[in-house]
Amino acid sequence: MAPRLEFYDRRPAPADFLAEVLEGLSGPQKRLPPKFFYDSRGSELFEAICATPEYYPARAEAGILRRYAPEIAAVAGHGGVLIEPGAGNLGKVRLLLECLRPAAYLPMDISGDHLGVAARGLAAEYPWLSVQAICMDYSRGLDRLDGLGGADLGEGGKKIVFFPGSTIGNFEPSKAARFLWQAARLAGPGGGLLIGVDLKKDPDRLHRAYNDAGGVTREFNLNLLFRINAELKADFDPERYYHYAFYHARKGRIEMHLVSRGAQEVRLASRRLKFADGESIHTENSYKYTVGEFEALARGAGFRAVKCWTDAESLFSVQYFEAVGQSVALE
Ligand code: AVI
Repeated sequence: MAPRLEFYDRRPAPADFLAEVLEGLSGPQKRLPPKFFYDSRGSELFEAICATPEYYPARAEAGILRRYAPEIAAVAGHGGVLIEPGAGNLGKVRLLLECLRPAAYLPMDISGDHLGVAARGLAAEYPWLSVQAICMDYSRGLDRLDGLGGADLGEGGKKIVFFPGSTIGNFEPSKAARFLWQAARLAGPGGGLLIGVDLKKDPDRLHRAYNDAGGVTREFNLNLLFRINAELKADFDPERYYHYAFYHARKGRIEMHLVSRGAQEVRLASRRLKFADGESIHTENSYKYTVGEFEALARGAGFRAVKCWTDAESLFSVQYFEAVGQSVALE
């Protein structure tokens, strides 16, 4: 059987990167959106983080998916359309495909080159599967899928949105609610959401996960400055910033920052940006939930909780929801 692969290119215009960076660095608290971590070096570094002994989420989630794939297939059903926003290297879906046996798989990712290579590999490995890869920035809205995916999206079987990795934790709660709302609309009544959610736990364990002894997370965070230098002709001196990550218990989130060592000025496009000594760029939040908190969030977006799987230490959860129709308009 020949591999079945289609590729849709909805790559955002390169100017968006500069505009978003300038906007983020203009406010009183400087910020950079975490989606910009993932250039090719950043993606490599993220994979390296997942292999550190301290960063438990990736291993815990893979263990859950591997162990419970038959149960997941029993609740999600076979022959559907599996849609994965932010699919990356398509590693996690491989843990499900044999059990889930969807008719079509629609991975979407902002990094078109990576996605193209990964999708070709997957299509060759699973010739029975229709792979329809979409290069897009899904954080701007899942509704941008309209007109894509051909007949599989419009008339195919049950739609299941697969969102592993606790990426939902990188969204502000209001944005997470909006994303879930869009996912419920995309899945449609009776459709599903299979999502990985990192759980609240001992703050010390969380602290270690974002401050690994080998300094990989530090390098991942600092890579943002290297990327901005390379792509936007800025002159950040990355040596003059340090990685700072901590658990903010009241807000239930890990915060990552890049903190300026000393007062300094940086050139970016036609602007000069000033940093005071100790001033930070807030680069990421990673929210942690209890199972109950996350179920409440999903319920508000139009989902019904069906099943939740965790690892033996209850560090991480994989949760399955069914879309029940939306009574509240969010947009
Ligand atoms: C991708 N995301 C869920 C990771 C997280 O844990 O928030 C990104 C990450 N940042 C530092 N380490 C990992």
